[in-house]
Amino acid sequence: KNVGILMGGYSSEFEISILSGQTVYNNLDRSLYTPFAIHILKDRWVLVEDGVEYAIDKNDFSAQMNGEKITFDLLFNAIHGNPGEDGILQGYLQLLNIPQTSCDVFESALTFNKAECNRVLSDFGVRVAPSIYLHPGEDVDPALVTKLLNFPVFVKPSRSGSSFGVSRVENPGDLEEAVKFARTEDQRVVIEQGVIGTEVGCGVYAKDGKAEILALTEIVPKKSFFDYEAKYQGASEEITPARVSAEVESEIRNITAKVYELLHLKGVVRADYIVEQTSGLPYLIEVNTVPGLSPASIVPQQVRHAGMSLTDFFTLVLEETRR
Ligand code: DAL
Ligand code: MG
Repeated sequence: KNVGILMGGYSSEFEISILSGQTVYNNLDRSLYTPFAIHILKDRWVLVEDGVEYAIDKNDFSAQMNGEKITFDLLFNAIHGNPGEDGILQGYLQLLNIPQTSCDVFESALTFNKAECNRVLSDFGVRVAPSIYLHPGEDVDPALVTKLLNFPVFVKPSRSGSSFGVSRVENPGDLEEAVKFARTEDQRVVIEQGVIGTEVGCGVYAKDGKAEILALTEIVPKKSFFDYEAKYQGASEEITPARVSAEVESEIRNITAKVYELLHLKGVVRADYIVEQTSGLPYLIEVNTVPGLSPASIVPQQVRHAGMSLTDFFTLVLEETRR
């Protein structure tokens, strides 16, 4: 079976996606699948083999390699952000009838928009932080933020990942600057009340159509929050399993499985929470439908903790996609 591994993408998360994609490529079971690295870049879509690029024909997502036409039975989606995590590529691949490992169009678009997703989850009874949504062109009103939310707040681009564009704001006077920074990633901005406590990521995937939880990982940033540097330059410590009470662990597992099923998610997903220090309650922060898969990322750590090899895990994900 030819498996194309999609990596790259058009967003700031491009480099992380290449690392995720390479991890999938290196760990696929060669007795079951023939892997191909496919780079989806702003200026070209190419199959990359031994450092040589072969153009992807966008009419049918095939490539001509040394006189042979390569087509794909399945695609492993390792593109974080636009266009792999937000539904764009999903729509195109659905038109071509090529199965891929992550969520469908609507589910991807919804979960990739933090503000909209948390609004829906809140309707389902999931505990999320209070927030204010700024539409494109809408100015921030510091007096309103002060009235509705407690500081510190987090100002985030509604559609982005890996903490790009995110700032922690302690004073109303710093809101405008933070909104401007968030808008380097997305015109839609969410201002979220800071939940102070322990950050926990919970990986989930599907087996025979049912949500299977991997493990909980606690993130201990050495900085003020789990930002880009903390995530990828080692400025954080990750502990699996997370040091939370049995009740909190079971609540996070249950919410994650419920969200996976309620939102009709597919493939590997990681839901992130903060367990509030004062109340001990977990708040869902976001749902990542193409979570990082580099060797240092959280999901691979959880796979190892669950006693599985990455190879067996990726096989499970691909087999589930074929169902
Ligand atoms: N957006 C990054 C890759 C993650 O959630 O793991
Ligand atoms: Mg994220």
